[in-house]
This record gives sequence, structure tokens and C-alpha cells, in this order.
Amino acid sequence: MGLIETDETNQFTYEHFAAHAPYVQVNRVLVQQALAHLAAKSQFAPLTIVDMACGTGAVTRLIIEELARQGWLVQAHVVGVDPSAEALRSAKKSIEAMELDVRVDFLQGEASDLPCVVQNVDIVFFCNAIHLIADKLAAFREIAAILASDGIFACNSAFYQGTYVEGTERFYRLWVRRAVGWLRKEHPEVQLSRTTKAMAMQWLTPEQYSHTLQQAGFERVHMVQTDVPLSLDALHDIGHYWLFIEGALPGVPLALGASALETAVYQAGQELGLNAVSRAWLQLIATKS
Ligand SMILES: C[S@@+](CC[C@H](N)C(=O)[O-])C[C@H]1O[C@@H](n2cnc3c(N)ncnc32)[C@H](O)[C@@H]1O
Repeated sequence: MGLIETDETNQFTYEHFAAHAPYVQVNRVLVQQALAHLAAKSQFAPLTIVDMACGTGAVTRLIIEELARQGWLVQAHVVGVDPSAEALRSAKKSIEAMELDVRVDFLQGEASDLPCVVQNVDIVFFCNAIHLIADKLAAFREIAAILASDGIFACNSAFYQGTYVEGTERFYRLWVRRAVGWLRKEHPEVQLSRTTKAMAMQWLTPEQYSHTLQQAGFERVHMVQTDVPLSLDALHDIGHYWLFIEGALPGVPLALGASALETAVYQAGQELGLNAVSRAWLQLIATKS
């Protein structure tokens, strides 16, 4: 699956989900843990931070906030990279609205473009997107190639084997079942594709992530799994993100998929008596050997 941006996908963005407080918090923790590694650096040394797959800038803003809090803004250069031009436009606007004196550049590209873009990077973030990458080893190698020695790689995902907190799998099954039921009833002409297995569905275990990072030249891989409570409204909003719709209801036109997931999320919640569903986030911090 490539990232093919269209007028249709641009209507189903990640921004609404990314604004939910528990999501912001789990990313903030990762950002703080990664930036804690800067303590050993001289306060006057230049500092380069890459936010890979920055999307609409949810994590970029957290990085800048934390740099400001720690007094690093003056010498920092933050580079946001994402294949989506539309997402980058929105990220740029939101950073400008922060009105901080910080050097930020946004570049359209993927992990494979990184070595041509920046070198000698202190920290690379890759948040909530690694599950979308087919060849994770190649991506980790490209990240290792742009990091300075002892550089830090911080990465997280809620699409891995272990993300479903015990007892919550039935919620996701019911959500999709009710969405498919709604489509059959309201739009019987729509066919679900059985053959395309979306990239986001190829989930690795935490151990596979750790092993792949080590193979790519990282050491001291620190892994934590954190439970994040997602309200039905937050789940509704992730159900309006095009990459999620493609994963949950492959082959379905996005607008219909979003409507189906919207109706079904509250239905499944009501049937199971749930207002929120906890989901585990895998948070990884690794040091380049
Ligand atoms: C769920 S968003 C995450 C945005 C942000 N990093 C965050 O954590 O809130 C996933 C992002 O991955 C990007 N993406 C998709 N395929 C990619 C690829 N092959 N390489 C890099 N980024 C990719 C998408 O454009 C999208 O902006």
C-alpha cells in the first residue's frame, strides 16, 4: 500500500483524533523521555531533531513545547517529514500559530528520503506511523544513518501485537461487525475487499521491534507499554481517519466507511456498556550504537 493522497483522503484527516487529551499525553511522555537524553549535551551546541511522519504536526508541537520548556529553542532545528503535502500544510500553519522563535522546516518525503535531507541528527521521532511501513528494518537503517553517534530514536505505535488490552478485543470485533452490518443494510452495493491486507494490519510484537532495531544498529532499546483510555468519541474520530478506515473496512469508499464506523462505534459501546476502551501504546527509545 502506498500513500496515495487524493481530494477524498484529504477529507478524512487525523487531526481530530490527535487532539484528544490521552493521545496527546502518551506522545508527550515519549517526547519528554527522548529529550531527557539531551541533558548531557552542551546548552550551546546546535541541535537537530527530525519528526518523521509528522503528519499534521501533533508531535512536532509537543517537541517544540518541550524544547521551549527546557531552554533549547535557540539552537534547535526541527525538521518535520511526511509524504502528505496536505498534512504538511496544516502542520506548518499550526506551528506558525504557536508564535515561537524556532527554526522549523517541513519536507515532503518518506524514510527512504531521509539521508538526502539531514545528517548528524540528535533525535529522530517516528510516532504513530511505523506500523504503516512495510520494510521496518530498512526504515530503521535509514534512521540510524542520519543519526549522530549516540543519537536517539523514539518511536511509538498502537498497532502492534499487544495493543488490545485484555478483554477489549470483543469491542473491536463488534465495532467492525456492526459497521459491516450497517453497510450491508444501507449500501448493499458496496463490496469489502477480502484480498488487500492493509499494512496497518501487519502487526509486530514488541520483541520483533526490539530485535529489528538491534539488527539496524541500535542498542539499549528501552520499551514500555502504556494503557491509554480512548473514549467512544476518540474512537469515533480515529474512525474518520482514512488510513484507519482502509484498515478496518478495506475496499469501502471512505465516506461510507466513515459513516459505518461512526454509527457502529456507539452501537458497540452501548451493547457492551462501555464509554471508553483502553488500548496499549508501545513506546520505544533506542540509542544508536
Ligand atoms: C497517524 S499519522 C501520525 C502523525 C504524527 N506523527 C502523530 O504521531 O500524531 C501517520 C502519518 O504517517 C504518514 N505516512 C504514511 N506512510 C508513510 C511512509 N511510508 N513514510 C513516512 N510516513 C508515512 C502519513 O502521511 C501520516 O501523516
